[in-house]
Amino acid sequence: MTNKLRLGVNIDHVATIRNARGIMHPDPVRAAEMAVAAGADGITAHLREDRRHIGDRDIDQLMDMLCVPLNLEMAATNEMLDIALRHKPHAVCIVPEKRQELTTEGGLDVAGQHNRLARYIQLLGENGSRVSLFIDADRRQIKAAYDLGAPVIEIHTGAYCDLSGDERIAELKRIIAGVQYAVSLGLEVHAGHGLSYETVGPIAEIAELAELNIGHFLIGEAIFCGLTESIRKMRSAMDSARGIESSVDE
Ligand code: PXP
Repeated sequence: MTNKLRLGVNIDHVATIRNARGIMHPDPVRAAEMAVAAGADGITAHLREDRRHIGDRDIDQLMDMLCVPLNLEMAATNEMLDIALRHKPHAVCIVPEKRQELTTEGGLDVAGQHNRLARYIQLLGENGSRVSLFIDADRRQIKAAYDLGAPVIEIHTGAYCDLSGDERIAELKRIIAGVQYAVSLGLEVHAGHGLSYETVGPIAEIAELAELNIGHFLIGEAIFCGLTESIRKMRSAMDSARGIESSVDE
């Protein structure tokens, strides 16, 4: 069994920069191609209801050209469900979405909307997409995700990244306990949100995690060192946290 942690690169913020000018450059699909060449195991894109970054055309093009899995993040709405059913991406991650938020601010309340989510998980799963639910490392939410039949959960690491000192350590312990509980139920567990070179190590060390999804930091860091280098450094940090030889060529 390989201990390698998969890296999904989220390209949303390439589209944020493009959309600031309303033109075609920089192209998130080109960024996806570069990310794959730099060692991304998958590409993640969040098609938000307000289309503030990734647009429908980006999803069409990613589905046409990607040679690695596309993880489509979406809110549980009928519009997004229709889009995901039409495209059949490899994975769909259901996230909470509020129009006013700057980013996905917390995990889904799976426990509170059981019946609504059940339909999405069933239809997407039957259509061939592996469904994950983006939740906080909370036992009640993890159990609810399991009861709903979701094969995968993604644990929100945003609070861990925002906190410091003892509070960060406490949140890390909560994440580790959550991951272990989820794996004991048979769920595949991913994690993401807010991760950077500084915060990724202790998360990547959690041996039961299968995948990290990272976006904003990598795209921001690319301004200083280029996208290839920012991804290679992250890949390397993840490999070294796992104590495995770096898969990045020097
Ligand atoms: N995972 C999920 C489910 C997300 O919604 C996001 C943000 O779109 C990420 C990971 C990546 O977060 P960040 O851009 O902060 O690295």
